[in-house]
This record gives sequence, structure tokens and C-alpha cells, in this order.
Amino acid sequence: MLKPNMYYGNLKESYLFYHIAQKTKAYLQEHPDAHLYRMGIGDVSLPLCDAVVKALHEAVDDQADAARFHGYMPECGAPFLREAIAEYYGKHGVSVTADEVFVSSGASDELGDLLDLFDRGSDALVIEPAYPAYVDANVMAGRNIVHLASSKENGFLPLPDENTKADIIYLCSPNNPTGAVFSREQLAQWVRFANENGAVILFDAAYEAFIEDETLPHSIFEIEGAKTCAIEICSLSKTAGFTGTRLGYTVIPKTLCRNGMNLNEMWVRNRTTKTNGVSYIIQKGGAAVFTDEGQRQIHDNIQIYKNNARILMEALDSIGIWYCGGKNAPYIWMKCPDNMGSWEFFDWILNEIQVVGTPGEGFGACGEGYFRFSTFGSPEDTKEAARRLVALLSKEKPISE
Ligand SMILES: Cc1ncc(COP(=O)(O)O)c(C=O)c1O
Repeated sequence: MLKPNMYYGNLKESYLFYHIAQKTKAYLQEHPDAHLYRMGIGDVSLPLCDAVVKALHEAVDDQADAARFHGYMPECGAPFLREAIAEYYGKHGVSVTADEVFVSSGASDELGDLLDLFDRGSDALVIEPAYPAYVDANVMAGRNIVHLASSKENGFLPLPDENTKADIIYLCSPNNPTGAVFSREQLAQWVRFANENGAVILFDAAYEAFIEDETLPHSIFEIEGAKTCAIEICSLSKTAGFTGTRLGYTVIPKTLCRNGMNLNEMWVRNRTTKTNGVSYIIQKGGAAVFTDEGQRQIHDNIQIYKNNARILMEALDSIGIWYCGGKNAPYIWMKCPDNMGSWEFFDWILNEIQVVGTPGEGFGACGEGYFRFSTFGSPEDTKEAARRLVALLSKEKPISE
């Protein structure tokens, strides 16, 4: 009889967003006329920008014309898009060649698939609170996971020390869920650790476009030595509203080798075996993001989310609540008032002011007592949610922080 992958039995119940959906559904059943202020989901609310929509339409027309039609695309990505992405890195002062860029259908797909490059016996270090996919993809592969808890004391940005042990290291900066961003000096410590220990960093830069502080790195490849120890995973989901359109990219330097194997060459072999490339139409839409016009338009949209962040940050500042994130990331990670638990706070604000967020405990045990707000909602809802939060927190509960 076939034996399935028994490691799936080790997965914890994925209850976070399911539980949130159940609780909000129950609330709406009891209060059918209520309007909920949804500040929990990580999905975007603004549509694709005009430059992308135009490029998508043109690409559809290409597919309708025998002379311009495209069949299978190159597995690692269309040269026009790989070159556009390499040029984008160049504009940020990072030298990357087109054949170090791999086009993907999104960061989630890639974060799972990339694990094919590593031995199952290698240890994966995950900084918690964390994007849940890092843990689950490794549990499915039967890999040992080293959980590194972060805290308010280290600004949710822990660094390696003499006890750190890891082969694969997940770094997410700007971070989901905490919104914290590693500085150059901090990233340099991880890069040094990885090079000295033969580890590989999987650097999730899905939110790099939200960085506004010029001293902070957008890419791990801004750090000396990263090209011998890091892979960068990026996404157009939040940057350009591609959550439903699906496009991302991964950079694997040609100089990244372990145990005599070249990881860039391995990934070419993997992609040419396991995929037939991303659709021509979607890659054309993606290329428009990297034009001057596309960059202007996506940054106009990002600015709208940043204004939402500013409104929420001002609200929390006005009532003395501790938080991080928001300035260089689309998430705000706040300390629940009066030592409330994450789910207790969730229930309280849902019932009292109809605001929905994400309990920090769902991102790892050390997230207990914290709460995540996303800034991807509409400006109107964000303003009203912030107003309601201030009214509730300043009147009903003592503020402990
Ligand atoms: C940190 C992080 N990485 C990756 C992803 C997935 O991005 P994609 O939509 O490209 O799969 C997300 C989505 O929320 C994310 O927060």
C-alpha cells in the first residue's frame, strides 16, 4: 500500500485565519447590520495600476495574433522580465545579472519549492513571530526547525550568537507580522554567521518597496558577502497589487555554492524539470511594473497604504500604546493593552468597536500579547477604525504600556 508523506501528520492545525473567519461570521450572524472594519487580512484593496493593465491588455492581443503569439515561456522567466528586474536592482545599487533572476508565480510558491535545494537533514531556523509558511513547508519536508523567539526587547530583530545553530535561515525584512526592518549592520551579522557556518539565508523581501528610511537595506545583496550565502525571494503581490494576478521573482547568485554544488545551476535544473514557466501575459504585466511610469503608479498606491499606516500610528501614539512597524512596512504590531491576550483583545475590539485584526499568537507563541494591524484596507475604514480604537482604549481600559 502507498505510504503518504507522514510528516503532514506533524503539521499543527492551521487555525489562525480560519478562526478569525469563524469569529467574524458568528458576530455578523448575531449583528446582521453591522459594518466590520477589517484590518486583519494581508490582501491589498487597490486595483492594478494603469501601466500594468495596459500591458496586460496588449499581451492578450498578442496572444490573439498568430504573428505575435507566445507558446511556452522559458522556464526561468522571459528575458525581457529578467532583464527589467536586474536593472531594477541596479537602480538600487545592487549588481545582479539577468541569469541570476528567476521569475516565479509568487513568493509563497517559491518559498516552498526552494526547499528542494536542501538536504532534509538540514536544520531550518525560523525567527518567530513568523509568516506561517516558513514553518509548515519545513514540517512537510520532515526537517528539524529551530525556533528563534524574538521580543520587544530586541525590537523583534534577533541576531545570531554563539548558541545559534542553523543550515537554512529565514529572514523576513520588512517583517510580516511585526513590520520590523533589519539595519545594514544587523544583516551583516547574519551574513557573517551564514558564511562562517556554511548556512544559506532565505531572505524574504516581499515588502521592500515599503521602506522609506534611506539607511535601511531593500535587498540582502546590499550587504558585503551576501552573494556567497543568500537567496532573495520577492513578490509583486503587495508592491503592485498582484495578489490575484500572481508574480514574483527570486535571485540566486551564481557565486552561491555549497558542498561543491552551485545553487543557481541547481535551480535552473529544478525549474526546467518542474515548471513550464509563468504565463506570457502575466510576465508582460509584471514588466510594466519596472518601467518609470509603472514605478510612479505603484508608489502612488503604496503611498495610500502608507497614509493608512500613519493614521493608525498617530492613533496609537495618542493613547500611548507601544507598537513597531508601520513606517517602513505595511503592518503595525502593537502590544495589547492591560496585558490582555491576543485573542482576548481580538474578541474585545470585535464586539465593542467592530474592528478586526490579527492576534499575534497566531504567528508563534512569542506573539502572545501582541496584535497585528494591516494597512491594506480602505482609507475610510482605516480612519474610522483608528477613531474607534482611540475612543475605546482611552476610555474603557487602563493603558499599561
Ligand atoms: C512575508 C511574506 N512572504 C511571502 C508572501 C507571499 O507572497 P505571494 O503573494 O507572492 O505568494 C507573503 C504574503 O502575505 C508574505 O507576507
